[in-house]
Amino acid sequence: MDIKIFETTEQLDEYAAGLFTKLINEKPNAVLGLATGSTPIGIYEKMVENFNHKKVSFKGVTTYNLDEYVGLTPDNDQSYAYYMNKHLFSRVDIPSSQTHLPNGIAEDPEAECKRYDAMLNARPADIQLLGLGHNGHIGFNEPSENLNAGTHIVKLKEETREANARFFASIDDVPREAFTMGVGSILKANAILLVVRGSDKARIVKEALTGPISTEVPASLLQTHPRLIVLLDREAGRMLE
Ligand code: GLP
Repeated sequence: MDIKIFETTEQLDEYAAGLFTKLINEKPNAVLGLATGSTPIGIYEKMVENFNHKKVSFKGVTTYNLDEYVGLTPDNDQSYAYYMNKHLFSRVDIPSSQTHLPNGIAEDPEAECKRYDAMLNARPADIQLLGLGHNGHIGFNEPSENLNAGTHIVKLKEETREANARFFASIDDVPREAFTMGVGSILKANAILLVVRGSDKARIVKEALTGPISTEVPASLLQTHPRLIVLLDREAGRMLE
C-alpha cells in the first residue's frame, strides 16, 4: 500500500486529479469507479479544471458509481446521480450514456442489482475512488458480520444517516436504504484510490489500514488489494506513524 499525506487539501486534490488525468491520457477508454460524499468534491473540481485547460478529455471514459439512495430520483438534489452531474458529468465532455449509477427508483431492486453487477463484471474499473465512513464503511458497505461481494441493498446504520443528514433538510429526509456495489466488486478494480480528510477520521484510518482485517471494518479489506493508494490530509493521517 502506498500512503501519501498532504499538507494542504489543494495539494491532495491536485495529486488525485493528476492520477485520473494521467490514466485517461494513457488509456482514453478508461473505466473509472467513482464516489460521492464531501471528500471527492475538490478532486472533481480539479478534474474539471484540467478538462477546461484541455489537459484531458472524458469522451471515451466510462464511469460506475459506488452507490445510490433507494427511493431518490436522479433529479432529487440529494441523489448521487444529481451530485455526479453537478460536480463532474455536466461539466466535462463525457457522454451521459457512459456514466452509470444504480437506479434508485428501480421497480425491481433485485434485477437492478444484477444489471449493475453484469456491467461491473464485464468492465472492472481501472481505478476505483473511495471515501471512508466514520465507521469504516466504503460505498455503503456497512460494518457487519457478513459482507456481500456483489451489488445489493443495505439498510443504513443510524450513524451513517446522521453523518449524511447534513446534506438533507432534516434527518427524516435521509433514506433508510441504499444500493451499493459490494466489496467484491470494489476489490476487482485494478487500482484503488482511498481518500480521507479530517481529524475526525484519523482513528478509523488507523484502524482500517493497520488493524486486523475484519468485516466489522469494511475498509480493512482494502489491505488485501495489491494496488491500494491512500491519500490523506495531515489531520486524517495524524495517528499513523
Ligand atoms: C457516504 C458515501 C460513501 C462516502 C462516505 C463518507 O456514506 N456512501 O461513499 O465515502 O459517505 O462521506 P464524506 O466524504 O462526506 O465524509
